[in-house]
Amino acid sequence: MLKLLVAGQGNSRTGVMIPIPQYPLYSAALAELGAVQVNYYLDEENCWALDIKELRRSLEEARKHCNPKVLCIINPGNPTGQVQSRKCIEDVIRFAAEENLFLMADEVYQDNVYAKGCAFHSFKKVLFEMGPKYSEVVELASFHSTSKGFMGECGFRGGYMEVVNMDPAVKQQLTKLVSVRLCPPVTGQALLDVVVNPPQPGDPSYKQFIAEKQAVLGNLAEKARLTEEVLNQAPGIQCNPVQGAMYSFPRIEMPERAIKLAQAEGQSPDMFFCMKLLEETGICVVPGSGFGQREGTHHFRMTILPPTEKLKILLERLKDFHQKFVQEYS
Ligand SMILES: Cc1ncc(COP(=O)(O)O)c(C=O)c1O
Repeated sequence: MLKLLVAGQGNSRTGVMIPIPQYPLYSAALAELGAVQVNYYLDEENCWALDIKELRRSLEEARKHCNPKVLCIINPGNPTGQVQSRKCIEDVIRFAAEENLFLMADEVYQDNVYAKGCAFHSFKKVLFEMGPKYSEVVELASFHSTSKGFMGECGFRGGYMEVVNMDPAVKQQLTKLVSVRLCPPVTGQALLDVVVNPPQPGDPSYKQFIAEKQAVLGNLAEKARLTEEVLNQAPGIQCNPVQGAMYSFPRIEMPERAIKLAQAEGQSPDMFFCMKLLEETGICVVPGSGFGQREGTHHFRMTILPPTEKLKILLERLKDFHQKFVQEYS
């Protein structure tokens, strides 16, 4: 998709708006293509919600030095685990229509929604419910993958994108571009077929399918709740609810001396924290700086994927370690 959309030189080079914190595949893909990365910040104080004012700020800023053409949304979010409200999605669609932006909706975590009151709303569905003023105009590509959801089949490499409102002549070029990469292995294609055609009521495997799906998602929901609960017990760690996806992105207090020591070692402060955590406890989490974060804030990302009993131990150790770390470097 990006290959098709990125063009121009200097001030006319394509800008692609991505959330910060972001899934680093986006910044890497943009760097590879020489596109201009246009950051918009998610609102941590508001459970990592997307704020239209911030989108506008980011777009206006970017227009001074590039040609922003694409707005990328990750919902539910990686690494931030937020689920966007329907109203927010409508606002984003209106914004894209007004500003003539191509929408890329990364919806690979669409089945991974856990928090009460949260629901997944697909951009395509909302777009079509907003009437022809939008549904016939706004260009959208949405993405899904067999590697997430309740399937978790990362190794099979199956996924799809659905493109709406693209000019048919351009779509023909897109098909050509995608065909050049040939196709994923048969197993990946077969799995994707199963994902989009799940067992239906009355089918022999229906009951078992529903039971397994509910068990996997119920277990993830329990671990999402547990992660938020335990991390927030630690003074100096603030963790937003893990509303969806498979991650939490807690904010950590970093003592001034640890920040100075990290700088002396040529490391970002959160990398310093993560390395000490790894060395002392064997727990491996990813520094927030790898995903982008507001200047002066420090985070790490962890998954909620370990088995529940292991996750409980891990969270307790992490909590204790942070407390010790703050004492040691204060
Ligand atoms: C937001 C997001 N989009 C896309 C992907 C890529 O998924 P796939 O396994 O299909 O390459 C990931 C994987 O972690 C992701 O978190």
